Amino acid sequence: MRIQRSLIRLLILCSLCGLIASADAAPLRPTHAPHAMVASVHELASRAGLEMLRSGGNAVDAAVATGFALAVVYPQAGNIGGGGFLLLRNANGETHFIDFREKAPAAATENMYLDAQGNVLPESSKDSSVVGYKAIGVPGTVAGLVYAEKQYGKLTIEKVMAPAIKLARDGFSLAYDDAQDFKEDEHLAQFSESRRIFQRDGNYYQPGDLFKQPELARTLERLAKDPDTFYHGAMARELAVAIQKGGGLVTAADLAAYEVKEREPIRGSYRGYDVISAPPPSSGGVALIEILNILEGFDLAKLGNRSAAAIHLEAEAFRRAFYDRADFLGDPDFAKIPVAQLIDKKYAAAWRDSIDPNRASVSKDLKRPSFGELERVAQSRPVPNREPQNTTHFSVVDAEGNAVSLTTTLNDSFGSRVTASGLGFLLNDEMDDFAAKQGVPNVYGLIQGPANAVGAGKRPLSAMTPTIVVKDGKLFLVLGSPGGPTIITTVANVLIGVVDFSLDIQEAVNAPRFHNQWLPDEILVEDRVSPDTMNVLRSDGYKLRVEHFWGDGECIMVDPKTGERLGASDGRNNGKAVGY
Ligand code: DON
Repeated sequence: MRIQRSLIRLLILCSLCGLIASADAAPLRPTHAPHAMVASVHELASRAGLEMLRSGGNAVDAAVATGFALAVVYPQAGNIGGGGFLLLRNANGETHFIDFREKAPAAATENMYLDAQGNVLPESSKDSSVVGYKAIGVPGTVAGLVYAEKQYGKLTIEKVMAPAIKLARDGFSLAYDDAQDFKEDEHLAQFSESRRIFQRDGNYYQPGDLFKQPELARTLERLAKDPDTFYHGAMARELAVAIQKGGGLVTAADLAAYEVKEREPIRGSYRGYDVISAPPPSSGGVALIEILNILEGFDLAKLGNRSAAAIHLEAEAFRRAFYDRADFLGDPDFAKIPVAQLIDKKYAAAWRDSIDPNRASVSKDLKRPSFGELERVAQSRPVPNREPQNTTHFSVVDAEGNAVSLTTTLNDSFGSRVTASGLGFLLNDEMDDFAAKQGVPNVYGLIQGPANAVGAGKRPLSAMTPTIVVKDGKLFLVLGSPGGPTIITTVANVLIGVVDFSLDIQEAVNAPRFHNQWLPDEILVEDRVSPDTMNVLRSDGYKLRVEHFWGDGECIMVDPKTGERLGASDGRNNGKAVGY
C-alpha cells in the first residue's frame, strides 16, 4: 500500500510540476529542419539554443545556452543550483561524457537522515533529505556547463549566457502549468525567499503574468563575467554563508573542492545500432544496455508494437535490469561497479533464458544467473532510496552533425525549495538520491545497494539517461527524459519504438509508455495502452497500475536518407523542438 500510494504521489507531483500537461497539445509529426535542431521542455530555452546555432555556435554552445535559459524559465528543474550529465558526440565520432552531478558535502555522514530510533526523517523535519538546507548537495551545474563551453564550445561564456540573463532581467510570460506549479508546491512557502520570488508572498502569479527575476539576472551576469566566482570567489562565500545560516552542510571548502568529471560513456549495440549512454554514477546507461541486450534475442517487431506479447518481454527485461541496478550501482569513485559484466551480451543471454514467453516472472523469486563477479558483490544488499519528482532533458544537433544529450535536475520539483539568499536561484535536494537507510524500500519502492550509501564527497546514484544512437558511424538518435526510475524505461520505449517498430521519432515519443522496476512487482502503464492488451497482460500474471502519463521525451532523429533533423517535443508537456 505504501508503495502504491507513493507511486501515485510521484505521478501527481510530476503533474503538479508541469511534467504532465494536456494531451491535446501532443504534436503528431516531428518538426523538420535541414540543418540543426534543439528540443527542450520550454520554447524559450529551445530558442536560446537555436540563437547560438544560427550565430555560428555548435551543439555545445547551444546546449549551454539552453541549459542556462532553463534555469530561468523552468525553475522546477532547470537550474544552476543542481547537477546533471552531458553526453556529447562530435560529428567525427569522438564522444565525451561530462559528469556534473552534485557531491555530498564533507560533513555528510551515512546516518545523517535517520532519527534517534534509526527511522528515516520525514520531509517535515528540518534535517530532511528532501526539503530544506540539509538536503543540499554541492551544485555541479555551473562547473559542468562552463567546462563544456570552454572545452568544446566555439563561442564565449558571455555570449551563451546572454539569453538567460535577458530572460531573467526582462521577464517572460508564465504558462498556465508554470503558474500552477509555483502556486501549488507544498513546500516553497516554507522558505521566505522562495515564497517571495515564486509565490509573490501569496499574491500568486497568474498565467500570462510577466515573471522577472532580478536577483537571478545579477547572479548570471556575475557568472558570465567570472564563472569561477561560484566555486572560488565572492559568490562561493555568499552561497556557503546562505546555506550554513539555514543549517545546511555545504561550505566554501566544499564548493572549492567540486570537480567536473569526464567519464567514459557506456557503450552497447542493439540490432546493428550503436548505443552510447550514461555511465555510473548514473544507473541509466548500464540498465538501458542490459535491457537492450536481453531484448535483442527476441523478435519484437514480429510480435507487434504495444502487443501484450511485446510489452511482456520488454517488462521482463526491465525487471531484470532494475534488479541488478538495486544491487550494484553507485558512485564509481567510491565503489567497484561491475559494469563490464552487467552489459555483457552473454550475461543478458543467461537472463533471457529465465523469461517465460507466456507468463510474468515473480520479482521476489528472480534468480540472477551466475556470471563473473556478480554473485559475490550481490551479497550485501539491499539499501533503499526514495526517488524524486522533477528533472529535465534536452537534445541538440547542429549543422555539422555534432550532438548533445543533456539531462539536468534539482531532484525534486524546485529542489530543496531553498533559494540561495540574495542570489535568486534554487538549490537541489540531490542528497535524497542516496540510500538513507539500509533494508527498507523507499517510498517509490526503489531499492539500491550499499554502493549508494551517503558518504562525504560521494555522488548519489542517478537514473538520468542521456543517450545517443549511431548507425553505420552516422548520428541517428538523441534521447532522454525526466521521470526518476521511469527515465530508463522511457528511453528504452522510445529507442525500441524507432528501431523495432519503425515509428518516427514523434510517434515513438508519443507512444503509450510502460514501466517495470522489479519492485513493486507490477507494470505501470499509461492509460492509452488498449484495455484488451491490459487484460492479456493481467491473464499473463501481471498486476497493472494504470496512470495517465509520465516523462518528457525531448528527442531528435536524423533522417538516415536525407540528413534532415527531426525534432520531437513530448505532447505530454509544453516543450518545443525548434530548428533551422
Ligand atoms: O538523478 C536522478 O535520477 C533523479 N534526481 C532524477 C529525478 C527525476 O527525474 C524525477 N522526474 N520526474
